[in-house]
This record gives sequence, structure tokens and C-alpha cells, in this order.
Amino acid sequence: MIAIASDHAGYPLKEEIKKYLTEKGVEFIDCGTDSDASVDYAAFAQKACLKVTSGECDKAVLCCGTGIGISMAANKVKGIRAACCSDYFSAKFTRVHNDANVLCMGARVIGAGLACELTDVFLNTEFEGGRHQRRVDQIHAIENGEIL
Ligand code: RB5
Repeated sequence: MIAIASDHAGYPLKEEIKKYLTEKGVEFIDCGTDSDASVDYAAFAQKACLKVTSGECDKAVLCCGTGIGISMAANKVKGIRAACCSDYFSAKFTRVHNDANVLCMGARVIGAGLACELTDVFLNTEFEGGRHQRRVDQIHAIENGEIL
């Protein structure tokens, strides 16, 4: 199960990604927003990310205008590793090396075709573990107030 959310700027892209996930048979929970009326992205990021950290969803896909604001908000949720991506390599390797659990994209940055490809590779690429696990653990040690 995937959580998906956006603000108003990301709303059209979220709807395209929903169509793509439906075609691919990927189940998702839409955490809003439901129109292009202006809203603030942080609450939508939080709602989707809490579905990941609770275990209800495996990953989340978030959209705003740039992908940046919503990724910043997502990364404030404990346990979230959100990556703002606009190229294939980054969307793939943030899974392989960072075990990212949230993909963020900018509706004013990339088109729907690329966004769906990035979503696909993000959802279907495994974390490599090994030395990368140690590095991911260090990210969460910082989150827990540890000095590295
Ligand atoms: C909304 O206008 C815009 O600021 C927002 O979608 C996002 O791009 C912020 O990072």
C-alpha cells in the first residue's frame, strides 16, 4: 500500500500518478488535497508520512510545486527518509543507497510522464543494505539527538 499526497500545486500531478498506479494495479491511499484550491503542504506531507511510519503504507509519493517544501516537511517526521527527485538515477539510487521511503516531486519541475517513471523505479527498487545501512542508521542517530 502506497500513501499519496500533494498541495494545490502538486494536485494535477498527484492525479496523474494515481491514474498510473491504478493502471499498474498498485493500491494507494490518497491523503489529499482534493482540488487546486490553495492549501499548505506540511499537513498533507505529515498525513501521508504517518501512514508510512505507522506501517499502514510501505512508501509515500508526495507532490508540491517544486517538490522541495513537501520533502522538507516529510523529513521532519521521525523515521521518514524523503528524497526530492527529478531524474531517473536519483529516484533509483535513493532507494539503493538511502532506503528512501518517500518520493517527492515538483509538478512545476517535471511532466507527468517522467513523474510516473520515477514513481515506478522508486517503488520497484530494493535497498542494497551493507555499508549503506550504517549510513542510514547515522541519519536516524542525528534525528535522535546523537552526536556522531
Ligand atoms: C505553492 O505555491 C508552492 O510554494 C509549493 O507547492 C511548493 O513548491 C513549496 O515548496
